[in-house]
Amino acid sequence: MKKTDFTAVVPVAGAGTRLRPHTYTYPKVLLTVGDKPIIGHILDDLQKAGIRKVCLVIGYLGEKIREYVSSEYPRLSVTYVEQPEPKGLGHAIWLTRRAVTGPVLVMLGDTILDADISKFLGPGDDRIAVKEVADPRRFGVVETSRGYISAMAEKPEKPRTNLAIVGIYSFRNSQLLYNSLERLLASGRTTRGEVQFTDALSLLVADGHRIKPVPIDGWFDCGKPETLLETNRHMLDRKRPHSKASGSLIVPPVYISPSARVENSIIGPYVSVGAGARITSSIVTDSIVNENASISDMNLGGSLVGPSAVVTGRRDKLNVGENSEVRLDRNAGAE
Ligand code: UTP
Repeated sequence: MKKTDFTAVVPVAGAGTRLRPHTYTYPKVLLTVGDKPIIGHILDDLQKAGIRKVCLVIGYLGEKIREYVSSEYPRLSVTYVEQPEPKGLGHAIWLTRRAVTGPVLVMLGDTILDADISKFLGPGDDRIAVKEVADPRRFGVVETSRGYISAMAEKPEKPRTNLAIVGIYSFRNSQLLYNSLERLLASGRTTRGEVQFTDALSLLVADGHRIKPVPIDGWFDCGKPETLLETNRHMLDRKRPHSKASGSLIVPPVYISPSARVENSIIGPYVSVGAGARITSSIVTDSIVNENASISDMNLGGSLVGPSAVVTGRRDKLNVGENSEVRLDRNAGAE
C-alpha cells in the first residue's frame, strides 16, 4: 500500500457559525491565515505527504471553495460531494461512500497540523491523531488500552481521559468505515442533534477493530476568532514570509500579498494582509486583513477584518500649547 493510494476526504460543508460575521458571506476555509486561506494550507500539507486524490465535501458557500481549489490546485485530482444540510461530520463522510475506494485519510477542514501527515499513511494499523488537552469536554475523547483505542465518546460531560481527537484519521479499508457509518445512520442515532463520526468509530471499536492513537503536538484550530489569530501567529512564525512595502515600516513576521497596497503605515508583528487589500496611514499588529479589505487612519491590534470590509478611523487636528495635557484614549474623563 503506497501513500498515493490514499484518498483524502476533507469535509468543509459546515456553516462556521462561531466565525460569524465573516462566515455569512465567506466559507470558513477560505479565510486567510498566514499567507493563504485555511484550505490552501491543508491541501499543501496533503500534497507534501504524497496525497494525489482529494474528495471535498462541500455545502454552505461550496461554489466559492470549488472555484478557489480548481484554480489554485490544478494538479490535484479533486472530486466534490455535496452535503445539502450540515447534519454532522458522520453524515458528511458517509456521503463520500460512492466517491472513495481503497484506503482513506479523513482530515477536518478547520484544523492545520504541524505534524508529519505521512505518519498516518502506509500499511499497518488504522490511526487517529490525539492530543492531551486541559478541557476535553469540547472534543471527541478516547480511552486506550494496550496501545489501542478501547472506547470513544463525543463531547462527554464527564470525560474519562484528557486525550482529545484532533482531526486526522486514516483507514486502510474504507469499506469497513462506510459500513459502520451506514449502521449508525440506519440506527437513527445522533448526539447533540448531529450524526457524529465519533459514534460510527465507537461502533467499530466495540466490534473489536483495532485503531491506534497517534499523539501529535502541532495542532492549530481555526474555528473561533481567538484561535484563528493564534494559528495566524504560528503560521507566520513557521513560514517567516519576506514582505516589503516601500514607505511603510514592516515589523516581521508579516505577510503582505503582492497585490495588496500598504502606504505610510506600520505593519506587524503577526499581520497577514490578503490579496487586493489596502492599508493607508495605519498601525496594525496581530491581525488578519482579508482580501480586498480597506483600512485607513486606524490603530488596530488583535483584529479580524473581513473580505472587502472598509474600516476608517479619525484624524484629529490639534493646536496645543505648552504644558497642556491631551488624552484621546477611550476612557479619558471616565472617572
Ligand atoms: P465544525 O463543527 O468545527 O465546523 O466541523 P462548523 O460546523 O463549520 O463550525 P461551527 O461549529 O458552526 O462554528 C469540523 C469540520 O467538519 C465540517 C466543517 O466544515 C469543518 O471543516 N462539517 C461539519 C461538515 O462538512 N459537515 C457537517 O455537517 C459538519
